Amino acid sequence: MDKIRIIGGRPLKGQIYIGGAKNAALPLMAASLLTDEPVHFRNIPDLADITSMAILLEHLGVDIGQGMDIDTTGQLSVPTPLMKFHAHHIKTTTAPYDLVRKMRASILVLGPLLARMGQSVISMPGGCAIGTRPIDLHLRALEALGAEITLDEGYVHARAPKGLKGTTFTFPLITVTGTENVLMAACLAEGETKLINVAREPEVIDLANCLVSMGAKINGIGTDTLVIEGVDRLSGTTHTVIPDRIETGTYAIGALMTHGDVTLLNTKLDMLPTFIPTLQDAGAIIEELPNGLRVSSTGRINGVDIMTEPYPGFPTDLQAQFMALMCTADGASMITETIWENRFMHVPELQRLGANIIVHNASAMVRGTKKLSGAQVMATDLRASVSLILAGLVSHGETIVNRVYHLDRGYEQVENKLAACGIEIERIKGEPHEPEDKRVA
Ligand code: EPZ
Repeated sequence: MDKIRIIGGRPLKGQIYIGGAKNAALPLMAASLLTDEPVHFRNIPDLADITSMAILLEHLGVDIGQGMDIDTTGQLSVPTPLMKFHAHHIKTTTAPYDLVRKMRASILVLGPLLARMGQSVISMPGGCAIGTRPIDLHLRALEALGAEITLDEGYVHARAPKGLKGTTFTFPLITVTGTENVLMAACLAEGETKLINVAREPEVIDLANCLVSMGAKINGIGTDTLVIEGVDRLSGTTHTVIPDRIETGTYAIGALMTHGDVTLLNTKLDMLPTFIPTLQDAGAIIEELPNGLRVSSTGRINGVDIMTEPYPGFPTDLQAQFMALMCTADGASMITETIWENRFMHVPELQRLGANIIVHNASAMVRGTKKLSGAQVMATDLRASVSLILAGLVSHGETIVNRVYHLDRGYEQVENKLAACGIEIERIKGEPHEPEDKRVA
């Protein structure tokens, strides 16, 4: 298992190109199952989770290819690979445990397979480090569309022999992949489907926009209610994946933590409506640029309270990183996690670096300390791992982050991007890692 070694104390200075959003690319890849025509995507990031989804789609019969492409939309500063997903012939509708267990978002093939093929058997994804990760709302919504769903020996058996029928369904709580799964299914359902209390994350909007470019009829994109008029079939398209707002926020935090000066390119300010003002309250100077943003520091880090919420609230996927920032703030910060029941596993690791944090149920009280000291720490999940990297940037001496396979699921070449900005950081190669029954978020 690889490790990452950091010598703390240097400011983050330079340019970082932000990759395509992992949590947009995953549902977009699943959407290729909805049509027998080829779908082309630009700006798909090179990440372990993307590879896991590609392996699952190939298992189902999707032909996947890659070529280079100069983006004609002008949205990207650098040429990116153009990936082709062609579900011309689906050879199986079964998603087996050994593929699904590697990445929970595999559940996103359920809705498209059900809509296109009238059936699907998919392993229950199971929980992961940050929580039980239920899918009950995915299933209830699909049943409302007329699917017959049974659970047997750890598998979801879903059937809709006569096709799916439009309906009105209200989500009792906001679920990102739940919204995405049912939105994709509703595009091929008969008649009108009204989905109420849907997730409004930019990744959901990106999926909806791509589906419309494939011929889907969707109204209300970006609001909490989507109205979908089912169509008989969808066509192919070419779509550019939106930038990764979580990667953007992560490096913005790194710039403030180290009192550096970083230009983040191929990204947008408006995808983080709550996070950006919060980071400014914490002491960041943020300048919007034509193709990104520049982040520098006022010289202070102020203690700021946060509470994670569905979009447009503070993203739960930036909670761990923000906590690392607050560890060296001039003051205290109350951090409340409202989305996941177990998303404070970075706390004991940050405490090993000298952080002063006390957890009470869903809240953590962080009292900023002048100095952290480098140590061996253990990554436990994707976002916790990058929060330890950030803390290592400002820890005195050497920090070794173990089990960085978690990091590789969601961050492309972290050590190279940070090293290019003046950080003393290196990856120490270990033996290949196959997470035996280590379910991941
Ligand atoms: C998506 O997960 C993201 N993953 C997560 O990012 C992110 O943390 C999460 O949304 C919240 O923003 C992807 O998009 C691939 P939810 P998802 O369904 O869809 C409960 C990362 O680090 N719930 O919005 O699985 C659930 O327990 C990952 O990139 C049900 O009760 O999250 C949670 O409390 C981690 N029943 C809340 O809803 C359901 O059927 C929100 O979960 C579904 C969800």
